[in-house]
Amino acid sequence: MATEPTKKQGPLLTTADGAPIADQENALTAGPRGPVLMQDVALQEQIQRFNRERVPERAVHAKGSGAFGTFTVTGDITEYTRASMFSEVGKQTEMAARFSTVAGERGAADAERDPRGFSLKFYTDEGNWDLVGNNTPIFFVRDPYKFQMFIHSQKRHPHTNLRDADMQWDFWSLCPESLHQVTWLFGDRGIPKTYRNMNGYGSHTYSLVNKDGVRTWVKFHFKTDQGIENLTNEEATELIGQDRESHQRDLWEAIDQGDFPTWTCYVQLMTQEQAEEVDYNPFDLTKVWPHADFPLIEVGKMELNRNPQNYFHEVEQAAYNPSSLVPGIGPSPDKMLQGRLMSYQDAHLYRIGVNYRALKVNRPKTPVRNYMRDGQFGGMLDEGTGHPNYYPNSVEGAPRPDPSYAEPAWHLGDVTVERYNSREDHDDFSQAADLYNLMSEDEKERLVTNLAGALGGVDRQEIVDRQLAHFDQVDEDYGRRVREAVSKVRQSSGDGQAGVEAAMSVKDMVPEGKAK
Ligand code: HEM
Repeated sequence: MATEPTKKQGPLLTTADGAPIADQENALTAGPRGPVLMQDVALQEQIQRFNRERVPERAVHAKGSGAFGTFTVTGDITEYTRASMFSEVGKQTEMAARFSTVAGERGAADAERDPRGFSLKFYTDEGNWDLVGNNTPIFFVRDPYKFQMFIHSQKRHPHTNLRDADMQWDFWSLCPESLHQVTWLFGDRGIPKTYRNMNGYGSHTYSLVNKDGVRTWVKFHFKTDQGIENLTNEEATELIGQDRESHQRDLWEAIDQGDFPTWTCYVQLMTQEQAEEVDYNPFDLTKVWPHADFPLIEVGKMELNRNPQNYFHEVEQAAYNPSSLVPGIGPSPDKMLQGRLMSYQDAHLYRIGVNYRALKVNRPKTPVRNYMRDGQFGGMLDEGTGHPNYYPNSVEGAPRPDPSYAEPAWHLGDVTVERYNSREDHDDFSQAADLYNLMSEDEKERLVTNLAGALGGVDRQEIVDRQLAHFDQVDEDYGRRVREAVSKVRQSSGDGQAGVEAAMSVKDMVPEGKAK
């Protein structure tokens, strides 16, 4: 018997398939004492769906809080970058932010001594730009090979399942490059009072590229307008005793009450010539660039003014990715950044799934058109329904790259980093000619027949001509014979199905579905 309708009015409750549900409290049973019937599909669906509610937590930075807002340009840096987000003073870009602690799990207390993550996602009109930084301008290690080991040393001991001072200090003491960051972490700024009261740093050196293709090295700084405020060990211990979610609560309540936190964004700039002159490696993440030599230049204001509607959808499944870069903002030789350019994308594919960018929080505001396809939940983002799934192609209206977005070459000593044309300076023909000329007359005949049968299935003459020109270049005899055989096949297929039979009858294999 169905239960009473609930006391308050609301919309109709449905199954996941949208069918109305009559009773959400009493399982379908054979008699009042059970057993429960398989037939209660709504109950089964609820059990199964519940069992799948969690996705793996982030391997690091698992505990975090997020919000949305706007970035407004206040200083002109168009001389240094073509990034559309910075194209004019006053321009506003929607953004998302996520702040986090590093070592603790998803349920960790907020007020712990730990660096804080400072992740920003800007939905620019030339794609998403993510700046995935920390509240420190430096890091513990300078080589990506050490990162995973470093994190192991900070997480739980595999035997005791406890955080372990021996592991932590064993690693740090064996890696003196960590000293700068260790000094920061155990200093006053090691426990920010709230997420609103800390600065954020891109930390790495990135590059800006202007419309003339000139590259300038850059570091990003976000200084809190709320003022820096920190906790002592004693204050933090007391606070955690009262409220494990102090940072989450503070951020959510401030925004909810209209007290929107803001940060002023600055850049430090360094030319290639300066990079060669300074007596430290400007791409070393354990080093800052002294402000006296490379002053802060104000470029913008970030305001967080909207809380997420659904924490799981908009914060837990938010995928911040240092490789989400846009024209005008690029990487640098920093080894750590290079390691991160791959790591995050891989983490998102594992944690959220291949189509993670289709989720609203990760989705660019710009159209997405490419040749990547399918996967679980495919179709949510793919706008490319009417074009082929390969490139290069000669299909009218299919998406094409635009060379005007090419990054300028990097000159790194004797080596130049560039997208070299893989067809230039390569002989694609002589080894194919050797192979052809090694064949007996019979083998050549079968080769030509097979090729003619396959090419006979191609609709567009321009494609056939392009391919025949390649055979000509391999060997004159080869080209001539394929051309003649193709022309015979195409003539005989001119009259419909008879052509198919003619093509098929030349004892070859026309790929299935290609025959005309
Ligand atoms: C999160 C890898 C260094 C800041 C993560 C995640 C991975 C990772 C796998 C989890 C991503 C996810 O599941 O969403 C690495 C590697 C590094 C490195 C391989 C060095 C080679 C750094 C550095 C910073 C940083 C130097 C800061 C300057 C963050 C932040 C998050 C994060 C803020 C959380 C992102 C979010 O809010 O979702 N890192 N990391 N990481 N990392 Fe790193």
